[in-house]
Amino acid sequence: LQARTTPCDRCPLGKTRTNLVFGEGNPNADIVFVGEAPGFEEDRQGRPFVGRAGQLLNDIITKGMGLRREEVYICNVLKCRPPQNRTPNPQEIIACSPYLLEQLRIIQPKVIIALGSPAAKTLLNTNESITRIRGRFFPFPFDERRPEAGSCQLMPTFHPAYLLRNPAEKSKVWEDIKTVLQYLGRPIPGRKKA
Ligand code: URA
Repeated sequence: LQARTTPCDRCPLGKTRTNLVFGEGNPNADIVFVGEAPGFEEDRQGRPFVGRAGQLLNDIITKGMGLRREEVYICNVLKCRPPQNRTPNPQEIIACSPYLLEQLRIIQPKVIIALGSPAAKTLLNTNESITRIRGRFFPFPFDERRPEAGSCQLMPTFHPAYLLRNPAEKSKVWEDIKTVLQYLGRPIPGRKKA
């Protein structure tokens, strides 16, 4: 899929990007993180979440979940950086989201963690605000037209860039992460065994 995706000119961002940021990580991951779109550093390096928000995501994965970054898969709704990091527009999402949906169908994770509003709204096809929907699971079918393609659980939570601006909200993301770890039957770092 990555080879078929690159280069892409399905939307005008193809003209302004430096690199297409397809995503990276374990293709057999149980957990996939989906962000919004590449920023400056991601566009420069061609890798997702390698700037400041990426540092915080790394901490969430390693310190918060006790996992290595290589064990999960990380990608975005948009594969190319919107100028000045503006919010993705509907045309861009319509053009680009088939790539994301195909990625998820291939990886078949057990849990998708949707980081922030564009990821949650795109994947759940809703207009509900992230504040209202975060913290609980939603079923995510890998192919809406083919139930036999299977499904997984989707957890919406706040985006790490939002947490950098609003550190007091970190405890809510921690709650959401614990819910995911419990669902997967994984140990919760820092909690003593009973
Ligand atoms: N923010 C995102 O949503 N994705 C990235 O890859 C980096 C920052």
